[in-house]
Amino acid sequence: MLPVTLSGSLNFQFGAFTVLVALIHSCRGQHHVSCPSEAIVATVGEDIILPAYLEPATNALRKTIEWTRPDLSPRYVHVQRQGVKLTGNHPSYEGRTSAFSDELKLGNISLKLSRVRISDEGPYRCFLPEMRISCIVQLVVGGKKLILTFICKENHKANNLISLLLENVQVVTSR
Ligand SMILES: *[C@@H]1O[C@H](CO)[C@@H](O)[C@H](O)[C@H]1NC(C)=O
Repeated sequence: MLPVTLSGSLNFQFGAFTVLVALIHSCRGQHHVSCPSEAIVATVGEDIILPAYLEPATNALRKTIEWTRPDLSPRYVHVQRQGVKLTGNHPSYEGRTSAFSDELKLGNISLKLSRVRISDEGPYRCFLPEMRISCIVQLVVGGKKLILTFICKENHKANNLISLLLENVQVVTSR
């Protein structure tokens, strides 16, 4: 009887050890999705990239990639499976998202978002369901304010600008 008990407890210990090794392995993140820690700042109307990379670099061409906005309903921004874009995304993103098909095989799973709107501001989650790994990119949209500041500054400096232009014209013509 004793040898059986002993081998049973050894088996148990071996099992627990295996689980522990597996846990450490996954905590070290053999694979993870990497996103920039700083927010991406965009101007209204421009096309931008929300960067995300599968690390270490792994072919993501056949993987399911889910870009979502956890604060929206439906939350889906862009979902693709086996390289095919799925429908059922939030209507405001209709026709404005795409992945970089040539980059996917290099683990570059960044999302292109076209014609940025004010309402696009928020957190974007990039999730690989098969690997259960994700990361979050923040998008800040603040374009209009910048443009207004520029116009106001230019109005104040209008006289200086005109004289500067005239000086340059004189320099060009005198040569
Ligand atoms: C990922 O792909 C985008 C689009 O081609 C590119 O702008 C970006 O630099 C790529 N990132 C890396 C790390 O290669």
